[in-house]
Amino acid sequence: MSSDEIRQKYLDFFKKRKHVEISASPLVIDSDPTTLFTSSGMQQLAPYLKGEAHPDGKRLVDIQPSIRMQDLDEVADNRHFSFFEMLGNWSLGDYFKKEQLSWVWEFFTKELELDPARLHVSVFEGNSEVPKDKESFEIWKSIGLPESHIHFYGTDKNWWSRAGTPEKMPVGEIGGPDSELFFEFEKVAHDPKYGKFCHPNCQCGKFLEIGNSVFMQYQKKEDGNLVELPQRNVDFGGGLERMAAAVAGDPDTFRIDLFFGVIKKIESEVGFGYNSDLDKDKSFRIIADHLRTSVNLLSEGVVAGNKLHGYALRRLIRRAMFHFHLLGSGISGGALAHIAEELRKFYPNVDKNWEFIEENLSAEGTRFELALKRGLARLTSAVGRGEEINGQFAFDLYQTEGFPLELTIEILKQNGILFTPEERNAFEGEFEKHKDLSRSSSSGMFKGGLAEASEITTKLHTTTHLLHAGLRQVLGEHIGQKGSHITSERLRFDFSHPQKLSDDEIKKVEDLINLKIRENLPVSSIEMTLPEAVGVGALHFFAEKYGEKVKVYTIGDPEGIWFSKEVCGGPHVTHTGAIGSVKIIKQEKIGAGVVRIYAALG
Ligand code: SER
Repeated sequence: MSSDEIRQKYLDFFKKRKHVEISASPLVIDSDPTTLFTSSGMQQLAPYLKGEAHPDGKRLVDIQPSIRMQDLDEVADNRHFSFFEMLGNWSLGDYFKKEQLSWVWEFFTKELELDPARLHVSVFEGNSEVPKDKESFEIWKSIGLPESHIHFYGTDKNWWSRAGTPEKMPVGEIGGPDSELFFEFEKVAHDPKYGKFCHPNCQCGKFLEIGNSVFMQYQKKEDGNLVELPQRNVDFGGGLERMAAAVAGDPDTFRIDLFFGVIKKIESEVGFGYNSDLDKDKSFRIIADHLRTSVNLLSEGVVAGNKLHGYALRRLIRRAMFHFHLLGSGISGGALAHIAEELRKFYPNVDKNWEFIEENLSAEGTRFELALKRGLARLTSAVGRGEEINGQFAFDLYQTEGFPLELTIEILKQNGILFTPEERNAFEGEFEKHKDLSRSSSSGMFKGGLAEASEITTKLHTTTHLLHAGLRQVLGEHIGQKGSHITSERLRFDFSHPQKLSDDEIKKVEDLINLKIRENLPVSSIEMTLPEAVGVGALHFFAEKYGEKVKVYTIGDPEGIWFSKEVCGGPHVTHTGAIGSVKIIKQEKIGAGVVRIYAALG
């Protein structure tokens, strides 16, 4: 069964049971400084789980692409990914345990045709605050599961919230006990590589968690206690990739269709097969995983850089390339993009934006390739001269060329030289020292004091709206925002446009914005629903991320002649005159069809 068939079966199954399909949130979250990426389907639904009415009703189904990058080292096993698709169904105060568990069973045994004898479930054993989940235990029994296949665990395994166990939940966070479903792989039941006496939640890989029904019914209060939410919800999430592996009966999730084309291409690139050596398999998996996450991030307009989302992407691309070196074969940026092209057929958004993705992936790959070449030359000539390669040397190589420590260690190993744990400590020490230095220099960004900085960023925020409207007026309505970022010194604005602006166009945009500043137009906001916002001509992005009510900021007269209307959370200046004047300081083409402009207060 292809992963696409599984997606379709899941959506159809729940639609037949009166669920409405909702669209996924984008992967990139740029409105929350604490979270870079969407990591679960629950993120966009939090207000509705707390009791707000969802416009599409009480039964929802969705497919949420998610990114979890906390522990990239886990990716080397056979079932963890930095990007995955979560199939989800939701009851917002509607059905509860009985329907949910019966449907889970029916879907996995009838639709996916998994052998019931190989399925196990887990149930919450209770703690001092929340009782043992006897109800789920009874439901599973009545469905026909033998007691030996129903396992009780505590809050560390059978409790779900975005923060983890109840103790870790911050005030206001919601969560609840859950009931997980596990598939036991017959293929490895007698393989001595896997644990002999393991249980479903053991990490050896013989059992795979393929779905989780969270009974989202508690909220953390200020006094540290949990209280019941006004409604009892169900939040089910199951990883598509793992479901596909269970259906295939193969515990190695990297053999499913979504990965295997890429694995095959890596095989041709390096000249030997997957599953030939344990260490090498890890590199195959890391490359396949990281490339898939990278193209999905690129498809949302992220470009590699040194901060936030861009840095996460850079790390993924560089780790993928580095693992080619571990496999004994360097790779060019272009060849990397050629391998990733395999993913176009699985992800429509990747296909649609392929030109941009290819250009940026291969450009970042080429940058790293050059850095690696320089680093490699320095390292091998130092080794050749018999120089001592210590922690300081390795750090210098990392700092100046971006040459990863693991690669230094590997190359030394190939030359019969051991990089000792003491030298590793010396490297880490330099690393920490440098981090502290850069932290203090970046806090210097706000040297005028935070109050002053926030005044400047507010002005730049309003300027971003002026720039967006100005670009559309001068260049045309095809201009759409691809990203934006503000520091206390400047704003950065990425937008869709085929080429860089001519000097004349830059001047026209700049003059128009400065005219609007001199006109001292009022800036005001009102709340409305998203369709109303669209109706009044407000620009907006990623519609699915907005709540029921959005704020629309108008520059000019909201009921009469206005220059800009945008859906936005603010804050903004009250009159454009406060901005003073604006200068466009730089522009660059950052990818196929995307131009980046930097502007500062004049
Ligand atoms: N919220 C749960 C999870 O992310 C189930 O969807 O695992």
